[in-house]
Amino acid sequence: MNILILGGGGREHAFAWKLSQSPLSNQIHVAPGNAGTRSIARNADLDIMNFSSVEAYVKAHDVTLMIVGPEAPLVAGISDYFSENMPSLMVIGPKKAGAMLEGSKAFSKVFMKEFDIPTAGYLEVRSENIEKGIAHINNSKGPYVLKADGLAAGKGVLIIEDRQTAISELKEMLDGKFGEASRTVVIEEFLDGIEFSVFILTDGQYYMLLPEAKDYKRIGEGDTGLNTGGMGAISPVPFVDDEMLQKVRERIILPTLKGLQERNIEYVGFIFFGIIKVKGEPYVIEYNCRMGDPETEVVLPRLKNDFAELCVALFEQDLYEIPVEKDARTAATIMTVSGGYPGAYEKGHHIEIGEAATAESHIFHAGTKMENGKVVTNGGRVIAVTSLDHDRQKAIDKSMLSIESIDFKGKYYRQDIGFDL
Ligand code: AMP
Ligand code: GLY
Repeated sequence: MNILILGGGGREHAFAWKLSQSPLSNQIHVAPGNAGTRSIARNADLDIMNFSSVEAYVKAHDVTLMIVGPEAPLVAGISDYFSENMPSLMVIGPKKAGAMLEGSKAFSKVFMKEFDIPTAGYLEVRSENIEKGIAHINNSKGPYVLKADGLAAGKGVLIIEDRQTAISELKEMLDGKFGEASRTVVIEEFLDGIEFSVFILTDGQYYMLLPEAKDYKRIGEGDTGLNTGGMGAISPVPFVDDEMLQKVRERIILPTLKGLQERNIEYVGFIFFGIIKVKGEPYVIEYNCRMGDPETEVVLPRLKNDFAELCVALFEQDLYEIPVEKDARTAATIMTVSGGYPGAYEKGHHIEIGEAATAESHIFHAGTKMENGKVVTNGGRVIAVTSLDHDRQKAIDKSMLSIESIDFKGKYYRQDIGFDL
C-alpha cells in the first residue's frame, strides 16, 4: 500500500524508517518531510492544514493509509474531513472530538474527573470568574501551575513559585498572553514526582501498549532552563516496572477508553499519556492525541512488530490478536539543536554527518532540508541520534559519540540525558 505521513520532524522520519521495513509498504510519502525522509520516502510539498490539498495528493498517489504526526491537523478536524470526504482512507489519528483530550486542558480535566482517572485537582478560570481564580491562588500554597486551555505549541504551562507573580500571570493569560488558547486557564494542584510517558495504539476498543519512555524537556543540563519540544528520551524507563504498568492500565488506560466509548467518541490512533509518579502512584499530567517527539525515536526502534501491519489491524478489528514484541535493549535518543533554541536561532547552516555516526546509531532528521544538493539546518531541533544497547549508559554513550561526527554551526545538545535514572 501507499502511505502518507503528515509532518516533518524526527517523529515522522522515525515513522517512515519503520514503515519502510514492512513488506506491506509500497511508496511512502511524507508531507512536508525533511532531508532525512527524502532519502527513504517521497517528500510532498503540502500545507497539511489545507485538507482539500491533502485529499488531492492522496487521490493522485493512490494512498490508502495516512498517519497524522502532529496534533494541529487532528484538533482542526482532519480525520473528520476524510471520514466525510474519503471514508475509504485509513487515517491514524482521532477525530476532533477525541483530539480534544489534547486540544483542551479543561475538556481533559472534566473527562478525567468524570471517569475517575487520577490527576491533579484543578479549577477552570475565565475572565468572568477571575476573582475565583485569584482567591484560589491566595488560599493555596505554591508552586502554582497555570495551563492555557488550548494548544500553545508546548509553551502554555507555567509553574510559578511566587503568589503575586502567579496572580499577574493568570491575568495576562486570560487577557490573551497565548491568544485564544489562554482565554480559559486551568489552575492545577502541583504534583511533586517523577515523570514518564506511556503510549497506546488503539481502535477505540482494543489497544496495544507500546514501549514507555522518559523525555527530557528542558534546554539545560540538570533539567534547567526553558521548556523545549524535547531534548532526548530513553526507553525503557527503569522505575516503570510491571506493577506500575499494571496500575497505569487499570486506573488510566482502561478508564480512558471506557470514557471515550461512553461519550460515543470514536478513536483510532495513538494516545500518549504524560504521567507523573507520586509516592508510587501514577497521575495523568496530560493527554496527547499523537505520538511524542523525540519519544517516537526511541519507541519505534524498540518495537519489533511490523508497524504497517499494526496500523492496518486497527481497521480490521484484529489489533487484540497481535502481541507486542519489544527489543529488550535500551534505546537512547539525544537531540541536537540549533544554537539559541528554544529562543531565536539561525537556519540554513550546512550539516555534515560522518560515517561513524551512521554506523553506530539511527540518525533521525528533524529540522533539516536539502538546499542546492546539501543538507542544511531548517529548525530548532535538527537531528535526533538514537542508539541501542543492553546497557543503558552504553546506549547513551554511543549516541554521544555519534553526535561528535555530526557537525553544524551552533550545534548544541544535552550531555546528561538519563542523568536521573
Ligand atoms: P504539559 O504541557 O501539560 O506536559 O506540562 C508541561 C510540564 O509541566 C510537564 O511535563 C510537567 O513537568 C509540568 N507539569 C504540568 N502539570 C503539572 C502539575 N500538576 N504538577 C507538577 N508539574 C506539572
Ligand atoms: N516530547 C513531548 C511531546 O511530544 O509532546
